[in-house]
Amino acid sequence: MIARGMTALAALAVAGAALAQTPAGSAEAGRKKAAMCEGCHGIPGYRTAYPVVYAVPKLGGQRPEYLVKALQAYRSGERWHPTMRGIAAGLTDEDMADLAAYYGGGAK
Ligand code: HEC
Repeated sequence: MIARGMTALAALAVAGAALAQTPAGSAEAGRKKAAMCEGCHGIPGYRTAYPVVYAVPKLGGQRPEYLVKALQAYRSGERWHPTMRGIAAGLTDEDMADLAAYYGGGAK
């Protein structure tokens, strides 16, 4: 009886670990996906003109974990910015991990 309970617990723990795992990003795949980000993020000191004049943060050199978190927050609506929300809504977890690996890996 106790042994059975332990097995079920162990199975739950394994499932939990798999869920919590962030896919390891590929910087190479991220470089290709970043084409749609560069219009705003690749230009030093660039400000968007729409919907409001807004400084665009630099992505290169930030920690990959932070970048993934930021993108997830835009997608969930926890962080609010109309442009980034629209962009993050179209990204999968894998896209985010790849992009984070690319930018976090010291590109630009
Ligand atoms: C149309 C311009 C535009 C495009 C295209 C764009 N972004 Fe952004 N991004 C912004 C702006 C403006 C902000 C700042 C928003 C805010 O303050 O919440 C931002 C913020 C971010 C942040 C948070 C940075 C921080 O320091 O907190 C991340 C991460 C990010 N963008 C990633 C991306 C990625 C990845 C792409 C491409 C898939 C992309 N962005 C495409 C304009 C853009």
